[in-house]
Amino acid sequence: MAQDGSVARVTCTAPVNIAVIKYWGKRNADLILPINSSLSVTLHQDQLKSTTTVGASRHFKEDRIWINGKEENIGNPRLQTCLREVRRLARKRRNSGDENSNTLTLNSKVHICSVNNFPTAAGLASSAAGYACLVYALAKLYGLEGELSEIARQGSGSACRSMYGGFVQWIMGVKEDGSDSIAQQIEPETHWPELRLLVLVVNAEQKVVSSTAGMQTTVKTSPLLKYRAEIVPERMMEMSEAIKQRDFEKFAQLTMKDSNQFHATCLDTFPPIFYLNEISKCIINLVHRYNSHFDETLVAYTFDAGPNAVIFTLEQQVDTFVEVVKHYFPPEENGEQFLKGLPANSVPLSEPLKSSIPMDPIKGGIRYIINTQAGPGPQLIEDINHHLIGEDGLAKR
Ligand code: DP6
Repeated sequence: MAQDGSVARVTCTAPVNIAVIKYWGKRNADLILPINSSLSVTLHQDQLKSTTTVGASRHFKEDRIWINGKEENIGNPRLQTCLREVRRLARKRRNSGDENSNTLTLNSKVHICSVNNFPTAAGLASSAAGYACLVYALAKLYGLEGELSEIARQGSGSACRSMYGGFVQWIMGVKEDGSDSIAQQIEPETHWPELRLLVLVVNAEQKVVSSTAGMQTTVKTSPLLKYRAEIVPERMMEMSEAIKQRDFEKFAQLTMKDSNQFHATCLDTFPPIFYLNEISKCIINLVHRYNSHFDETLVAYTFDAGPNAVIFTLEQQVDTFVEVVKHYFPPEENGEQFLKGLPANSVPLSEPLKSSIPMDPIKGGIRYIINTQAGPGPQLIEDINHHLIGEDGLAKR
């Protein structure tokens, strides 16, 4: 921790995660306890991450927060819960004589500054990365080690899974106080090096119905959701097994089926919720046609509470699939760089492949692609030049 001047500062980064078995629905909205377990892949922070600096000083009069350059209301209840719970844990550790716990900062107010390197609320799980980063950074500030996903969960359910890298499950738990509703890594990011994720950014506008509000209406009105909760336990086992075995076919099929079932529960919600748009549906069709052409499941899609697709594939498929996306969704001439992240090579598309996908190209339908892979959990940034809060304790411009 940097302790220059009178402001102690800690900077951390945290990843985005994409669920392959979706969390949708709470049994306890205050504690954020889900109605089913879920499983996700952590995305690499080279491409997508939240960065948060927390600063503590005796001179600070109140807790304050800046998100993406703008000061926001610190009174947000979920934010308050995370602050309170990390402080509570720190006091508990201090009282039990933990030498690592940092008493100086514990009695001070904090200033928090957080930025994402991707559009907020674009259906790219920005709240997951944001809350994971906040909890991780506060814990570092207070010298806390150990299980923190229970606190991150109370910021945003899916945030608990961003506390680990690689392949992560969030066990729903059974206890009323939520103490067993935690995330666990099932395999590290190094487990499946060939696995690639392509984020197809369809529309970076603010999403229409937030996941928090959407899932609440689904719980109240969808009979299909009850059925879903019954079958998820078996799916969780199958999915863990597919990941352990690096069985792409099985992994891909379960991923698509679970995404479709989640969106089916949205349609079963009354009034219905539509997260997929026409472009999303074209992507779904394209993936199925691509797989049928090769007579093998080579690519899979999944969609969260928004129209953007996340495509899973293996390294050797990336060039061809990116080319297919470019062919059917030609980029706008004046648009931004189309392929971001890991590189891909331009390859010719065969005529038989094109005729297997009888779809008229939709210009500008996809804004850009982010080519990435599985990555590690939250990181502490040692370089003080990366602090987002200056020595004056305020957000840097
Ligand atoms: C569709 O974690 O954003 O992305 O707990 O209310 O903050 P809250 O909801 P949130 O919901 C995520 C829903 C999802 C599926 C998933 O990530 O598992």
